[in-house]
Amino acid sequence: MNNQHQTPPSEAGIDGHPPASISISRRTVLQLTGGVMSLSAVPPAEAQSIPPTVMTGGAVGPLRLVVNGMARELQVDPRQSLLDALRESLGLTGTKKGCNQGACGACTILVNGRRILSCLTLASMHDGAEIETIEGLEKNGELHPLQEAFVEHEGLQCGFCTPGQIMSGLGCIAEGHAGSPDEIRFWMSGNICRCGAYPGIVAAIADAAGRS
Ligand code: FES
Ligand code: FES
Repeated sequence: MNNQHQTPPSEAGIDGHPPASISISRRTVLQLTGGVMSLSAVPPAEAQSIPPTVMTGGAVGPLRLVVNGMARELQVDPRQSLLDALRESLGLTGTKKGCNQGACGACTILVNGRRILSCLTLASMHDGAEIETIEGLEKNGELHPLQEAFVEHEGLQCGFCTPGQIMSGLGCIAEGHAGSPDEIRFWMSGNICRCGAYPGIVAAIADAAGRS
């Protein structure tokens, strides 16, 4: 298969379009909504200390979401990312904030069945959306088969990237992009693991894809 002209979805941006369009569109949205800073201007090394958006008035809502099968309503700041809304407003901290600028994939979740980078999209844009996060995968005390495969194949070391890897892996399998290790590597290339658990991650996704 010739992948030369394809763009992996998690590299491509929140909706599968080329990164340039995401950057422009996000900047435009921030300007239109009175955003005070561009998160893309923050160096990765400082990203961990980026505070969540603080609501100082002008909250919008209620924003209605279905998160892991549960209907949720919340007020959001127009500038608040979906990642911050999940972590700070709903307490779902399983989705990680790595770079906060679309470069690492740690914040990957599924929105209406598609994997997106939740740090790159505003919560207020997703009224009515169905969202799946890592917290929703376990059912009745049983890990999801992909979670089990990550454990079996040691697809993690420090684990910080793991929620994003697993959510992206689910998308990769659902999209039919898990046919070979090369294909998995390509379509998972937007998810960075700094401690190098890539062989186990690829093996886990291939294993889970074979079981489904
Ligand atoms: Fe969203 Fe890194 S935190 S891509
Ligand atoms: Fe350590 Fe991925 S398991 S960064």
